[in-house]
Amino acid sequence: MKKTVLVSGGAGFIGSHVTVELIEAGYDVVVADNFSNCDRTCYEGVKKITGREDLPLEVMDFCDLAAVKALFAKYPIDAVIHFAAYKAVGESVAEPLKYYKNNLTSFLNVLEVAQEKGGCNVLFSSSATVYGEPDVVPVTENTPRKPATSPYGNTKTMCEDILRDTVKASDGKIKGILLRYFNPIGAHPSALIGELPRGVPNNLVPFITQTAIGKRECLSIFGNDYPTPDGTCLRDYIDIVDLAKAHVFAVTRMMEGKMKQGCETFNVGTGRPVSVLELVNAFEKVNGVKLNYKFAPRRAGDVTAIWADPTLANTEMGWKATRTVEETLKAAWAWEKHLAGK
Ligand code: UD1
Repeated sequence: MKKTVLVSGGAGFIGSHVTVELIEAGYDVVVADNFSNCDRTCYEGVKKITGREDLPLEVMDFCDLAAVKALFAKYPIDAVIHFAAYKAVGESVAEPLKYYKNNLTSFLNVLEVAQEKGGCNVLFSSSATVYGEPDVVPVTENTPRKPATSPYGNTKTMCEDILRDTVKASDGKIKGILLRYFNPIGAHPSALIGELPRGVPNNLVPFITQTAIGKRECLSIFGNDYPTPDGTCLRDYIDIVDLAKAHVFAVTRMMEGKMKQGCETFNVGTGRPVSVLELVNAFEKVNGVKLNYKFAPRRAGDVTAIWADPTLANTEMGWKATRTVEETLKAAWAWEKHLAGK
């Protein structure tokens, strides 16, 4: 019997790539999204890539408890991957209540319904932001979490705790995996799905591709006086398809009863630090384009350097990132050109 995975926020950047990988691994997927921060482009792209014209889509808000109950009543859900959340760091500082209300309520509703129906496998999309500015890099899953620097980051830390406590109290009925993503970038090699930021992008790679295509005039590199080899920040940029595959490994681990604890945590990164300047240079080189950029003051809230020690995910889940930065930046550029109709 095929297992069914519910992907909340399944029409977004990460959700759509995860949906593709789950379908390709043989799972039935239900996509649920309220389209608050995306349109139908990626949902349509997923259908094209997978040939699943009948891919179920539920347009709904996870803050609506009755709607979540109805969803779980309609489908035989074996696992839920919860992406449905707001994610703009700066906006969360300006509008904290919007973030706490949406990100916490939607997850609480999922867990409440999972508990009511007698259990479920729950995968939560967490972030390396929970490590704050780490004292030692790379970070392992045992590196202490630090107080978040934004309400957005706080919701990640809080949802981690909520899942862990719920699993603990569930008598083995609810299982949980927390995946802590580093910096997901790139796009599907088909160039049919990718990142679709609304307005001015906050993240580096969409800003790079939009500058290269001529939508933005100039990329600002925030800070070149950090204590790093070239003065710009170091991050662990992970290909979106590699990251999506980690979810398949995690869901299968839960379904097959291979977990060693009721709630497990894995870093999803490459283990490879790359500076902002290195990324910009690699983008120019691999795509043969010149990027207009300048150095600008540091951005508030940025950490100097963070990258993953992915050993646990490699050894325990059997998952490993395989794509090079160059391959990923090629895919990001192909997607931007696809959007521009080029
Ligand atoms: C941020 C969030 C992280 C979240 C991730 C989602 C924090 C502190 N960071 O990560 O939680 O999961 O986005 O994708 O909460 N940069 C520029 N110019 C730009 C944009 C970015 O120089 O126009 C630099 C930044 O200063 C940083 C690097 O590029 O050094 C990466 O930035 P970004 O893509 O925004 O990701 P993070 O801030 O690492």
